[in-house]
Amino acid sequence: MLSRWPAAAIIQTDRLVLEPLRLDHAEEVEAALDDERLHEYIGGHPATLDQLRERYGRLVIGSSPDGMHGWCNWIARERASGLVVGTVQATLHGEPGCTTAEIAWVVAMPHQGQGYATESAAAMSDWLLRHGVDVLVAHVHPEHRASIGVARRLGMAPTGVIVDGETRWAR
Ligand SMILES: CC(C)(COP(=O)(O)OP(=O)(O)OC[C@H]1O[C@@H](n2cnc3c(N)ncnc32)[C@H](O)[C@@H]1OP(=O)(O)O)[C@@H](O)C(=O)NCCC(=O)NCCS
Repeated sequence: MLSRWPAAAIIQTDRLVLEPLRLDHAEEVEAALDDERLHEYIGGHPATLDQLRERYGRLVIGSSPDGMHGWCNWIARERASGLVVGTVQATLHGEPGCTTAEIAWVVAMPHQGQGYATESAAAMSDWLLRHGVDVLVAHVHPEHRASIGVARRLGMAPTGVIVDGETRWAR
């Protein structure tokens, strides 16, 4: 059966290549994102390699088992070094004509502060809007200055909605 959700495709940016998530990305991602500091605002802890493999095994299918959600995930690879510098993700739901994507971004500590979150999330957002998504949503901790900066750069604005202590941003 054909999925009604778009399948993540390769996205090129000036400095990055966004590769649709594969199971064999787990090792590189684990090495890049194994840092408690990345969880200061989003909670939880770095995933182990086994946890990532299990998670990616589900995500690469591209939709939830009941078909109600589409899953588009990418790793961001720096062209110059070939290194994985982060990930971007979108969870899609809704109907044609009113499809919403909840988006999120992570950049490894050594690669932060260079605009990579903005560059990768903006490229993903443009791709989503060209592939049937109507509304972008992100949940951002109200004190997370860097993530607020990314959301603003994407043209999103804070809504009055708070979910689990995070502000819902939308565009
Ligand atoms: C949020 C995160 C992805 C930002 O990554 P990044 O590559 O450093 O972000 P960018 O370089 O694209 O910067 C984004 C904006 O935040 C600003 N910024 C970056 N670091 C900042 C900091 N420590 N304090 C204040 N502003 C900061 C930048 O100046 C930029 O704003 P500008 O475009 O107006 O100048 C990164 O901090 C991260 O991975 N955090 C952990 C995971 C997380 O919380 N993800 C958010 C889930 S929605």
